[in-house]
Amino acid sequence: MRRAIYPGSFDPVTNGHLDIIQRGCKLYDEIIIAVLINPEKTPFFSVDERCEILRSIVKEIDRGECTLTVESFEGLLVQYAADRQVDAIVRGIRAISDYEYELQMALMNRRLQPQLETVFMMPAEAYSYVSSRLVKEIFHLGGTIEGLVPKLVEERMRARLSSDA
Ligand code: PNS
Repeated sequence: MRRAIYPGSFDPVTNGHLDIIQRGCKLYDEIIIAVLINPEKTPFFSVDERCEILRSIVKEIDRGECTLTVESFEGLLVQYAADRQVDAIVRGIRAISDYEYELQMALMNRRLQPQLETVFMMPAEAYSYVSSRLVKEIFHLGGTIEGLVPKLVEERMRARLSSDA
């Protein structure tokens, strides 16, 4: 039984995240998609909304035999990973610019929990420039985010905009 954790902010989940999850499904029997509770950030979607959106979306994806669960977590990732008895942390790397930050986190996590591995995965090139931050920026400025995020995310973002208006 190989279990991994895929942690992140997922605010919002993008097609790049989904691509990584689908690739991860080929390697692991179970992936826990772990949404960080970060009181310092003002998010677009609440943690509960992000978890709910992720749960709906992962039901639809091609996951083979892999079990996908969505949870929120706070505190140290390595502690949470140990509590959940996972073998690896999965992180997506889009470009060299991601690598420095990811390497620093991976090495720090290894120092804290030496038996836990970090596995870097590359998304499809089509998603190599997609980030939650840019999706939100484009959306706020009235640009199209079609194809960058799942349809449900697009709908929820539009619904949020009209409810705020
Ligand atoms: O999607 P993100 O925002 O790039 O994800 C960052 C995340 C959640 C992986 C990282 O911030 C994290 O692990 N936070 C938990 C707190 C922690 O363990 N910090 C030490 C990291 S070395």
